[in-house]
Amino acid sequence: MRSYSLIAPAKINLYLEIIGDRSDGYHELAMILQSIGLADEIDVRSISSENIHVHCNHPQVPTDKTNLAYRAAELMVRQFPEAFAKYGGVEISIKKQIPVAAGLAGGSTNAAAVLVGIDLLWKLGLTQSELEELGSTLGSDVPFCVAGGTAIATGRGEQLSPLPSLDNICIVLAKYRSLEVSTAWAYKTYRQQFGDSYIRDSDNLEARANAVHSGAIVKAILDKDSGEIAQKLHNDLERVVLPVYPQVFQLREIFANQEGVLGTMMSGSGPTVFALFESEQQAEKIKLQVREAIVDEDLELFVTRTITHGIQVASSV
Ligand code: C5P
Repeated sequence: MRSYSLIAPAKINLYLEIIGDRSDGYHELAMILQSIGLADEIDVRSISSENIHVHCNHPQVPTDKTNLAYRAAELMVRQFPEAFAKYGGVEISIKKQIPVAAGLAGGSTNAAAVLVGIDLLWKLGLTQSELEELGSTLGSDVPFCVAGGTAIATGRGEQLSPLPSLDNICIVLAKYRSLEVSTAWAYKTYRQQFGDSYIRDSDNLEARANAVHSGAIVKAILDKDSGEIAQKLHNDLERVVLPVYPQVFQLREIFANQEGVLGTMMSGSGPTVFALFESEQQAEKIKLQVREAIVDEDLELFVTRTITHGIQVASSV
């Protein structure tokens, strides 16, 4: 039976602005998303029984329908019943490197990999935009994870405009293993606290979403000016997460005060904090310094870099 091994990279948010409410209960966003080298490995294999099986080496990751990768496979079964009947069920193995519930789109990138993997297994020949459209029904970050790279994301996060690739900006990620922040909680709390400032009329909403295209951080990305990018990092959700999670606030402070850090920010709804660097040497140095400053085995630190792609096929047999 045929199988594909896929690389599923994490993402960080270089920019996250909450603009207003949507009629579907979500938020209108203007974001800049960036793929990073930290990635999971997903193996997708056809099996003779008509089932979906998910395995994962990480004890915290569910293997039932609550796993977005499982739901991605179910979606493909529903959408392409003839292919399912022809090729049979799917076994999905997830080798986790990306911390879970971290604001790094770990679940979303696994789901994107399953869509890409089943498209290949079942020889469907779906286009990137078809895969993205399927992905948008699973989660707001799934469409971006398909092609990855650097992109502006508006709407719920699913409307993508690619930006020129930013490769080789070095990154340190910091996440407390046992600390999780619920994305739904972060957005709900933001609405409670700052909903008064939301833009209400659709013309102004569209104008604000369009404004990000000509904003300072996009200019810095076009100029490939990593120092300027780092100065323009922004995440509205920090306003609700940092006051409630002092450990995340402390990580932000420690990174901000280290020499050589170009800029630092929480990713997505957190609790991962990232810092940007010119060189890997500097990133490794600061990683050690943070490790010395916070003596806590619960704290995970990763050195990685910006990359120019989303889901990639590593091998097929
Ligand atoms: O789309 P996804 O499942 O990743 O979103 C998780 C939660 O984050 C949603 O249930 C919603 O509460 C919140 N969210 C939002 N607006 C967005 C994206 C997510 O309110 N644009």
